[in-house]
Amino acid sequence: MIRFLTAGESHGQALVGILEGMPAGLEIEQSYINHQLKRRQQGYGRGGRMKIEKDEVNILSGIRYGRTLGSPIALMIENRDWKNWLEVMAVEGERPESVEHIGVVRPGHADYSATKKYRYDDVRNAIERASARETAIRVALCTIIRKFLEDVGIFIGSHVIRIGSASYKLRKDIDAKINEWTQASCGAYKVTEEADKSEVRILSPEVSDRAIDAIKKVKKTGDTLGGVFEVLVTGVPEGLGSHVHYDRKIEAQLSKAIMAIPAVKAVEIGEGIENAGKPGSEVQDEMFPNEDGTVKRQTNRAGGIEGGITVGENLVIRGFMKPIATLMQPLQTVDLRTGKAVAARRERSDFCAVPACSVIGEAVVAPVLANAFVEKYGGDSMEEIYERCKKTA
Ligand SMILES: Cc1cc2nc3c(=O)[nH]c(=O)nc-3n(C[C@H](O)[C@H](O)[C@H](O)COP(=O)(O)O)c2cc1C
Repeated sequence: MIRFLTAGESHGQALVGILEGMPAGLEIEQSYINHQLKRRQQGYGRGGRMKIEKDEVNILSGIRYGRTLGSPIALMIENRDWKNWLEVMAVEGERPESVEHIGVVRPGHADYSATKKYRYDDVRNAIERASARETAIRVALCTIIRKFLEDVGIFIGSHVIRIGSASYKLRKDIDAKINEWTQASCGAYKVTEEADKSEVRILSPEVSDRAIDAIKKVKKTGDTLGGVFEVLVTGVPEGLGSHVHYDRKIEAQLSKAIMAIPAVKAVEIGEGIENAGKPGSEVQDEMFPNEDGTVKRQTNRAGGIEGGITVGENLVIRGFMKPIATLMQPLQTVDLRTGKAVAARRERSDFCAVPACSVIGEAVVAPVLANAFVEKYGGDSMEEIYERCKKTA
């Protein structure tokens, strides 16, 4: 089983991660991980932190001469900002008087819930680990798993479909393009490449401009925006996941991975949300015989999954991100140290992070698909896995 752990505070020395269970012999370059880290840092609407950090991964173990060894892979990303937080984040000693003792909690953050749960006496303890900074190391770890999927012919991409109220009036034009690109098994990559050309990762220049204008507006008023992103996976074989047990259903596992991204509050598979309001005749994907005895579908409303198992169609997974909780025009809250009503704290913050969230979405689905793939085909090395997939194909 492929699994990983992460550690690190937002303004601590570094983020670290250990990835265990990767097959041996996978070719991986540090530059590919750094490329994905750079993509996570981008997008119109990010705050000042991203100007300080230039995330670069340091591979500490598990890879030799560019190939995985099958042993645990340890990664580290240094926080450049740490040098400005040495006193605030000191590992030893007492908090000096000069360091703010935070009692004010921001609504919509882990500030209140984590401070109460862990009986922290300083909200800073909650802020540091709840921060989405952790997703940098998650993306780094998942990029190695993503490279494994690419080598067995499975490609992941994404694009943003909504920021605030800026979205497609009709998705017909964009869907036609996506359908054309995703005919190829590496098609999801094309979608991502095209989306990366926009500062908000929206495929239509007109919707992209409207989204940027909307972010500019909230920046001026001290507000924030959320939105929706779509993760697409192409080259997916039939038979990943299972109907036989609830925790083996692949859409449940994919939803959990997307939902575990900070600020994601809903997940949709295929056209799940709209389908709930339609009659069955307009929702299921009819099947037709191919000449070679296989089955084809003309629609993919199910998002590539039936009964918890992939059907060989592209996967379509949407994540709904709430607006950033830290507001420059702060909401009403409480100072837990004095019990008094106050305005929420203004922590340095993004105004909109949906484009970055879509890049994280691409990364986090990789472990789910890789585990299902390895479960189906098995193997401790890439060589063995290739032999087994070829035999089955
Ligand atoms: C890429 C990314 C960047 C984020 N940046 C911020 C930020 O700058 N300020 C903020 O308040 N929340 C930010 N968030 C959201 C918070 O991390 C999240 O709302 C918080 O940890 C509470 O978790 P919850 O919203 O899942 O309940 C970001 C989330 C993501 C995915």
